[in-house]
Amino acid sequence: MTKIAIMGAMEEEIEPLLAHFDNVNIVEFANNKYYEVSYKGVEIVIAYSKIGKVFASLTAATMIEKFECDTLLFSGVAGGINPKLKIGDLIIADKLCQHDLDITAFGHPNGFVPGGSVFVETSEKLRTIAKDVAKENELNVIEGTIATGDQFVHSSERKDFIESTFKADALEMEGASVAVVCDSLNVPFFVLRAISDSADGGADIDFDEFLKSSAINSANYMIKIVDKL
Ligand code: ADE
Repeated sequence: MTKIAIMGAMEEEIEPLLAHFDNVNIVEFANNKYYEVSYKGVEIVIAYSKIGKVFASLTAATMIEKFECDTLLFSGVAGGINPKLKIGDLIIADKLCQHDLDITAFGHPNGFVPGGSVFVETSEKLRTIAKDVAKENELNVIEGTIATGDQFVHSSERKDFIESTFKADALEMEGASVAVVCDSLNVPFFVLRAISDSADGGADIDFDEFLKSSAINSANYMIKIVDKL
């Protein structure tokens, strides 16, 4: 491992990561800022992509192709679907899908386009490290499916569709696009989220209230994982 990328989607998701490092070098590229740090002899590049699959894909590809990162980690918040997941709880994705990718009109399953696959799996090695770290620190972490789409989900109807179609445990707006980029470029990746809301009525209010505290939960766990890489 020579260079690690750590992404969030929003500034609030990377602020608590950046707080762990001094001597940050900022590089501007493609209307975004990339924060370079050296930590325990390892080079790390941190950035928030801005919300949604397009910005997240651009940032992931930039971190890999321009900054030459060979491992990509994502830290942030998600809406919970699995009833076991309460606000602040942590989920690591074993696989991700795009819940809003829809060419079912042509007989394909939801989330599928030719040349791709409905689900993209994260690195088993990184997940194992993350689970070991959780055990050591007595953190309660669920491993499950994360569904991604360019929608802030705030209705039981949409949430139920995503649950029943993809058996998803949580949903957000970037993970699966990062997964497709990393998988295509053969870069091991890992997606960690802490729950900020339950993706139904009132999700917008909970999101505003819990974004910061849940982003901190995710970032603190992520730093403990980085310590083991
Ligand atoms: N990220 C956190 N909560 C979310 C929600 N309800 N919908 C989409 N992305 C989210």
